[in-house]
Amino acid sequence: MSAETDFEYIRQLVRKRAEVALSEDKAYLVESRLAPLAREARVDSISELVRLLRRDPFNYLHQLVVEAMVTTETSFFRDEHPFEALKNFVLPELLKQRQVERTLNLWCAACSSGQEPYSIAILIREYFPQLASWTVNLIASDISASMLARARLGSYKPHEVNRGLPLTLLQKYFHHSGKDWQIKEDVRQMVDFRQLNLAESWSLMPSMDIMFLRNVLIYFEIETKQTILAKVRQVLCPDGYLFLGGGETTINLDAAFQPVQLGKAVCYQFRSG
Ligand SMILES: C[S@@+](CC[C@H](N)C(=O)[O-])C[C@H]1O[C@@H](n2cnc3c(N)ncnc32)[C@H](O)[C@@H]1O
Repeated sequence: MSAETDFEYIRQLVRKRAEVALSEDKAYLVESRLAPLAREARVDSISELVRLLRRDPFNYLHQLVVEAMVTTETSFFRDEHPFEALKNFVLPELLKQRQVERTLNLWCAACSSGQEPYSIAILIREYFPQLASWTVNLIASDISASMLARARLGSYKPHEVNRGLPLTLLQKYFHHSGKDWQIKEDVRQMVDFRQLNLAESWSLMPSMDIMFLRNVLIYFEIETKQTILAKVRQVLCPDGYLFLGGGETTINLDAAFQPVQLGKAVCYQFRSG
């Protein structure tokens, strides 16, 4: 079986399960990302692994292959400006708007290993102590069970906490766990991690005041981006805020949203009128 055919199989599997489109130039990733799985499955090569996958109906091994092929790059306070906007504009505004309900719903969709939702949780703890008496539902989801397991554990390598996390916040909100740093229990408890494939139903999600959907649309084809944004329209409150990744936009995809400049960040809200 040729390597090209194996790549085509993997590509279709990832497309079918996660809607993630792997371009031809990602073929080189197959070897490095799937070699550990091949070893775990006790086969000698990627071709053998693909033969196993083809032989059986969708099972745990297929899921692990999908998880290994999607990009999970993330960091604490990634890109900085969205978190500044959250602190300086979005949360102060929503604190005023929701002072009767005293409830806030935030969703970090595609949270990878948890740095993004924990950055939000730390920001809330650090700058909005008054929210301690509110109901704050901070939901974080991802398609990847292995990333969610890491996120729930909240334990990070020194090089991970050195990316984006100020030392004062590291010392205040983490404790040593061997050579690693683990987020303190009370902050960990603030995040409700759930497995969710964005291409499937969002029916269990409450209305969201703030949605972080960052650095995931970029991996989808245009129609999938539009389908996902149509679902955001259903779940986001009329005065809610949507944050996308730096290379992502709603422009030319969904006219219901308009970009809003908040300091150095751009977020998206429903177009008025
Ligand atoms: C590059 S990471 C982004 C993490 C974080 N949002 C950030 O900006 O740092 C992309 C994440 O999207 C997840 N993902 C890919 N396809 C998905 C899908 N169909 N549904 C849910 N999550 C998906 C991956 O597992 C990965 O953790």
